[in-house]
Amino acid sequence: MILIRNVRLVDARGERGPLDVLVGEGRILSLEGGEAKTIVDGTGRFLAPGFLDLHAHLREPGEEVKEDLASGLLAAVRGGYTHVVSMPNTKPPVDTPETVRALREKAEALGLARLLPAAALTQGQEGRLLTPAGLLREAGAVLLTDDGRTNEDAGVLAAGLLQAASFGLPVAVHAEDASLRRGGVMNDGELADLLGLPGNPPEAEAARIARDLEVLRYALRRSPATPRLHVQHLSTQRGLELVREAKRAGLPVTAEATPHHLTLTEEALRGLDPLYKVAPPLRTAEDQEALLEGLLDGTLDAIATDHAPHTEAEKEMDLLRAPFGIPSLEVAFPLLYTELHLKRGLPLPRLVALFSEGPRRVLGLPPLLLEEGAEASLVLLDPRERPVDPRGFASKARFSPWAGRSLGGWPVLTLVEGRVVHQAL
Ligand code: DOR
Repeated sequence: MILIRNVRLVDARGERGPLDVLVGEGRILSLEGGEAKTIVDGTGRFLAPGFLDLHAHLREPGEEVKEDLASGLLAAVRGGYTHVVSMPNTKPPVDTPETVRALREKAEALGLARLLPAAALTQGQEGRLLTPAGLLREAGAVLLTDDGRTNEDAGVLAAGLLQAASFGLPVAVHAEDASLRRGGVMNDGELADLLGLPGNPPEAEAARIARDLEVLRYALRRSPATPRLHVQHLSTQRGLELVREAKRAGLPVTAEATPHHLTLTEEALRGLDPLYKVAPPLRTAEDQEALLEGLLDGTLDAIATDHAPHTEAEKEMDLLRAPFGIPSLEVAFPLLYTELHLKRGLPLPRLVALFSEGPRRVLGLPPLLLEEGAEASLVLLDPRERPVDPRGFASKARFSPWAGRSLGGWPVLTLVEGRVVHQAL
């Protein structure tokens, strides 16, 4: 039994408290205190439902030199995540029920965050032949995606949406038109021209989202079950507008944005540091403003990390050769608590919803309620500021665009079904 005393409760519905939260047998037993062996002081802190990351690259199997389940899921619980969706662009890709099952069993044995594997939409993520959605779902896959790769064949995506719909699975898309993106390593525009670097135009994202929404319309018209399309890492104003219009028209589409697109712009690349090389690329301040509006008006359902660990040696190569990706599992919440809530006034209940209830809804999961009898997957957050120190990361990617930045809102206690999986009280 754990008693978290005198703590404010925050979820999508608002703030309450302070209350005394008693946890035992995997559940919230009471909000009015009680006897417990372990007592945690919640004064000045707030308790939120556990976070779910819809988009983490944990690199297992095959690239354990970058990350593995043990390091990635430990990084997750330190970041306040109780549930993590792992991306299937591993080596080889996660495209069979056996691999999904093996990942889940291994994660289960680690006893950290719960792993919810995403599986590839197409065999080998090659964009041609579909994977067996029903068997993958049975093995525990929660989402199908060829993330990291773009689905160039609209017909394959349509068939994938139809098949996934019949098994109740959403399909997530890395929406970039490869023929427009070509070899772009940063946002296309004046800065890329000035730096002499190949640009990846915002239209590559917008064009692909527009196409995918038409594919969704087709699938919706032809399918008895509702196909669900999830747009990953939205980075452009135009892409966001397209999703907003589609939602208004009632299409079953959801979308996420990343911590890096919400807090950094292409300006970060002026010093040619590959740390900031990511796909889709960091965009302009106007794009970022549009994303912030999207967080407020519900166009964006979730903040998802796109945690993309690489070795330091790889990220120290020159900008043209270094791999795409920014790791952020351990800093995502403190970063956005500080930059969006404290500095930009994004209401805390909305921010927490974007980390928990929103991403859960994308997967069709019910919200974690802060109520008696509810599953005790919880995170205790501390508003006190401290600097980001990547050398202390659990992730194997011990570097960060936000190194040295003073942030508040650090997870100091993470519980998964009542079990303490992270503690830094
Ligand atoms: O920045 C990225 N990194 N974008 C992707 O699409 C893939 C990811 C990775 O796997 O490293």
